[in-house]
Amino acid sequence: MSPPGWPARLAHRDVTVRPLRARDAVAWSEVRVRNEQWLAPWEGRAPTQPAASWRERNSTAVFSVMLRQQRREARAGRLLPFAVELEGRLAGHITVGGVTRGAFDSAHVGYWIDQRVSGRGVMTTALALVLDHCFGPARLHRVEANVRPENAASLRVLDKLGFLPEGLHRRYLFIDEAWRDHLAFALLVEEVPDGVLRTLLRRGGR
Ligand SMILES: CC(C)(COP(=O)(O)OP(=O)(O)OC[C@H]1O[C@@H](n2cnc3c(N)ncnc32)[C@H](O)[C@@H]1OP(=O)(O)O)[C@@H](O)C(=O)NCCC(=O)NCCS
Repeated sequence: MSPPGWPARLAHRDVTVRPLRARDAVAWSEVRVRNEQWLAPWEGRAPTQPAASWRERNSTAVFSVMLRQQRREARAGRLLPFAVELEGRLAGHITVGGVTRGAFDSAHVGYWIDQRVSGRGVMTTALALVLDHCFGPARLHRVEANVRPENAASLRVLDKLGFLPEGLHRRYLFIDEAWRDHLAFALLVEEVPDGVLRTLLRRGGR
């Protein structure tokens, strides 16, 4: 039996979110390698594992391993991993992870986009689609997001979507050879009774 809300394909105008597929390998590796300077300040790595180069960590071979792991986790209902497409081209990724059921019905979200298409409202739209899906078919009550205080673009995206601040996670993720503080945000289903995308569009979003 499939877990609630997975798999799914969602779209608004030229933005689509859908599961990653094996034939994304080359495009995924190309966009990730090209965006090293853009993505590296915000992405963690396990400090206990040997430090591989960015290129090694984003090869097509790593993609295949990641895809297998993501599919297994998604089938188990712990993960909703979405590719983001703009006009049919792979442009980024949204991971709804740490799905916890029972009395929680909670998860956290992570995201990135190709710098070439940034600043055009693509990630805000893609996240709005995913959040409506989380609060609808995936039956979540809470979605959390954690952001470095220096990440102005990401903070702005969360603000546009209606996330509220909940505090500070001290030394939360190992990024760029140090443990980095993150600000904690969350959005709850009852805070968006008209839906996230509809509210965004009403306020003049993409
Ligand atoms: C965060 C990120 C996903 C946003 O994607 P995006 O498609 O550019 O987002 P949008 O265009 O929907 O919105 C970006 C908003 O941030 C604003 N912004 C961008 N850079 C900014 C900066 N340096 N200071 C303040 N605001 C900034 C944009 O003007 C826009 O707001 P607006 O619509 O009010 O003008 C993208 O910047 C990214 O991938 N960054 C690197 C990875 C990352 O940070 N991931 C998140 C980790 S928590």
